[in-house]
Amino acid sequence: MAEDPAGGGRRRPVTRGDGAGDRARSGPAEREPDRLRRIRRGYDAWARAYDWFARATASVGGVRAACVDALDLSPGDTVVEFGCGPGVNLPALRDAVGPNGRVVGVDVSPRMLDRAAGLVERRGWENVSLVEADAERPPVAAADGVLATFVTSLFSDPYPVLRRWCELSDAVVVAAFVPEGNRAANAALRAFVALNGRLFDATTDDPLGRLAERTAAARRALDDGATVRERDRRLFGTIVVEAGRSG
Ligand SMILES: C[S@@+](CC[C@H](N)C(=O)[O-])C[C@H]1O[C@@H](n2cnc3c(N)ncnc32)[C@H](O)[C@@H]1O
Repeated sequence: MAEDPAGGGRRRPVTRGDGAGDRARSGPAEREPDRLRRIRRGYDAWARAYDWFARATASVGGVRAACVDALDLSPGDTVVEFGCGPGVNLPALRDAVGPNGRVVGVDVSPRMLDRAAGLVERRGWENVSLVEADAERPPVAAADGVLATFVTSLFSDPYPVLRRWCELSDAVVVAAFVPEGNRAANAALRAFVALNGRLFDATTDDPLGRLAERTAAARRALDDGATVRERDRRLFGTIVVEAGRSG
């Protein structure tokens, strides 16, 4: 790993990929947990469809815009998106940090990263890097902001991961599903989680309970790791945006 001089923000990133649109792979090959392999296979298989779906629904509930606002980025900052998928948040993040800032997208699915790389290339962004890595073992040592939308529910225990993210960044924002809506909204969410039970590793009698536990763990990590906290429920109470900042 080498210090990356490209970032102009308050905190400097240390990544394994340091060029525009780079596709670095993180770390020495180690035996990967089955869960991560399953996630990679699942998202690789659905990358094209997910890309279409995520773009078509990008403005629903104002969730993505609220996340980027909550990061409170300034031009020249460095922001890392964990589980960036096909890159639906990248345009707003790139806008927020400007041409002199730095955006690093991290994902474990090469096919998702292919989609994101296509976007980076089409837009001609020179300050957006993509890294194939496990967000639970961040390949980045420091950033001004960290974002993860619809990713933390896929971790078996989000608490230690988010505590680590709080250590490496001034601001951490996550969007996650929560069963806090009305009956119809919760029923729709239950069906969605049950359908994707293998991906969420939540093939139990109570997939929604498992999801709620993980979202609560993420919240606790931000409560414990950040000094300023915001919580914003959206889309009939089925999605929560949790933001934590230091000082
Ligand atoms: C539901 S998609 C969300 C994508 C994007 N954040 C969005 O909001 O559209 C979840 C993404 O997280 C990635 N992912 C899941 N677990 C991961 C991990 N441990 N490390 C890196 N990426 C991960 C998946 O490959 C997938 O691209």
